[in-house]
Amino acid sequence: MTGKIIGTGSYLPDRIVTNDELAGMMETSDEWIRSRTGIAERRIALDEGTTGMAVKAARRALESAGVEAEELDLILLATSTQDHLFPSGACEVQATLGAVNAAAYDISAACTGFIFGLASAQAFIRSGMYRTALIIGVDCLSKIMDWSDRGTCVLFGDGAGAAVVRAEDRGMIHAVMGSDGTKGPVLSCVARSEGNAFNGRTPELGYTQMDGQAVFKFAVKKVPECIHQLLDESSVDIDDIDYFVLHQANQRINESIAKRLKQPLEKVPMNIERYGNTSAATIPILLDELNRDGKFQPGDKIVLAGFGAGLTWGAALLEW
Ligand code: UT7
Repeated sequence: MTGKIIGTGSYLPDRIVTNDELAGMMETSDEWIRSRTGIAERRIALDEGTTGMAVKAARRALESAGVEAEELDLILLATSTQDHLFPSGACEVQATLGAVNAAAYDISAACTGFIFGLASAQAFIRSGMYRTALIIGVDCLSKIMDWSDRGTCVLFGDGAGAAVVRAEDRGMIHAVMGSDGTKGPVLSCVARSEGNAFNGRTPELGYTQMDGQAVFKFAVKKVPECIHQLLDESSVDIDDIDYFVLHQANQRINESIAKRLKQPLEKVPMNIERYGNTSAATIPILLDELNRDGKFQPGDKIVLAGFGAGLTWGAALLEW
C-alpha cells in the first residue's frame, strides 16, 4: 500500500498587498522586489489566524477528495505560526472539522513541513497503521515579520494548502527528508525570550531573521541534490518527470534549480508572483492550483521538493 493524494485544497486571504504598497511603507521598490525575487504581490491575513486558514484549505481538500471528516485517521499540520503553543493547530482543525477519529499533531519543519508531513503520512500508511490522512501546510508569517526590515518582510505572505492522502496500490513512489541543525541560525525566529518571574526579564516575541544569501546558496545546491537522491533511489529517470512542484521562495532559486537539473522551465510551474513565500503552504497551494487547472493526467510523475529553516529539505515522488 502507498499513500495517494486523492484531493487537494487551498486558501488565500483576500487582502492583496502589492510591492508598491510596501514601497510606500519602507525604502524598497517594485523593481527591486520583482527583479530579485519574482514577487509582485502577496496576501495578508487581517481578521483570521493560522487555524482559520487551515480549516478552509482542509474543507476544500476533503470536498475534492469526496472524503468525510470522520473518515480521517490522521491530521498533520505543518506550520511555524500556530495560533497557540498548545493545543496544536492540528487539534484545533480536528475540532472544527469534527474529525473525531483522527490523531492530530503539528509538524515543525518550516517551509519543508508539507513534504515532511506527506512523508510521515506515507510511513503510517505503508506500515498499515492508518488508511486516510489530511496533511496541511499553513503559515501566517505576517505575524512574525519585522515590518521595518525590508530584507525579510517583502518576501513573505500568508496562506494555506492541504491534501487528502489515502491507502491505494499506487500513488507515492518515494520520499526523502534531511536536516542540518548546525545551520539553524541562518533562518530563525525566537518564539519567546527567556523572561520569567525570577530573572526580572519580560518575555518578548521574536521576529524572523535571515541570512538571505546563505539560504539562497543552500537551496540551489541542496534541492537538486535531494531530487537526484529521490530519483536514484526510485530508479526513475529525471526526463520522465512531468512536473517539479517546488517551494516558492524565490523565482531565481527555482530557475537555478531547473538549470542544475537540466530541465525546461515549463516543467517548473510557479505562482510566487501572486503570493510570495507562504512557507509551509507554498507547495500544497501550487499543487492545488495545478490540480484544479487540470494539469495532471493519471500516471503523470510529479516531484515535490522544498527547503527551509532547520535547515531542512525534502522531496517526494508521486504518480498521479
Ligand atoms: O523559505 C526560505 C526563505 N528564505 C529565502 O528563500 C531567502 C533566499 N534568499 C533570497 O531570496 C535573496 O538573498 C534575497 C531576495 C533575500 C536578497 O537578494 P540578494 O540579491 O541576495 O540581495 P542582498 O541581500 O545581497 O542585498 C543587496 C542590496 C543591499 O544593499 P547594499 O548593501 O548593496 O547597499 C540590501 O540592503 O539590496 C538591499 N536590499 C533591498 N533594497 C530594496 C535588501 N532588501 C531590499 C529591499 N528593497 N526589500
